[in-house]
Amino acid sequence: MKKYYELRWEILRKPWNQPRGSERDDMEDKAIHIMACDGNKIVGVARLHFNGIKEAQIRYMAVEEGYRRRGIGSMMLRRLEEMAKEKGAEYIILNARENAVNFYKKNGYSIIEKSYVLFNEIQHYKMKKKL
Ligand SMILES: CC(C)(COP(=O)(O)OP(=O)(O)OC[C@H]1O[C@@H](n2cnc3c(N)ncnc32)[C@H](O)[C@@H]1OP(=O)(O)O)[C@@H](O)C(=O)NCCC(=O)NCCS
Repeated sequence: MKKYYELRWEILRKPWNQPRGSERDDMEDKAIHIMACDGNKIVGVARLHFNGIKEAQIRYMAVEEGYRRRGIGSMMLRRLEEMAKEKGAEYIILNARENAVNFYKKNGYSIIEKSYVLFNEIQHYKMKKKL
């Protein structure tokens, strides 16, 4: 798990000079974590948690740069969606960074609304997929 959080921080926090620890929130213990590995190396991470009985949310999706566009992100997404469905979720929501909107659209998510701006520069879009 140390390596898992390290990759999350490297991709989603470090480029914006955010301290270690900023890559976690208070849902970690209750959430479902997934990682993709190449041998011993973690190359992709993502997380699912529940906001209610019907609503699950995906956060912290990240694939190491040299491993992108090989289907790893989609594979993790599919697995989290399967698990959400198995546990009774009816739909998934997420807040996509602008650069990831196409990735989620390709995987069946639709934009609901513009949501927040992170670190004063990363526009997010709330997206949803019915399971
Ligand atoms: C978003 C991210 C997780 C996608 O992971 P990935 O493993 O590269 O995604 P996939 O290979 O499964 O992509 C599936 C499809 O999504 C679309 N897609 C993925 N990345 C894209 C990009 N940068 N621009 C446009 N379309 C993209 C493509 O249609 C792709 O299929 P194709 O390669 O056959 O054209 C990865 O780019 C990433 O970690 N980005 C930086 C961190 C980040 O922004 N995370 C999201 C936080 S909300």
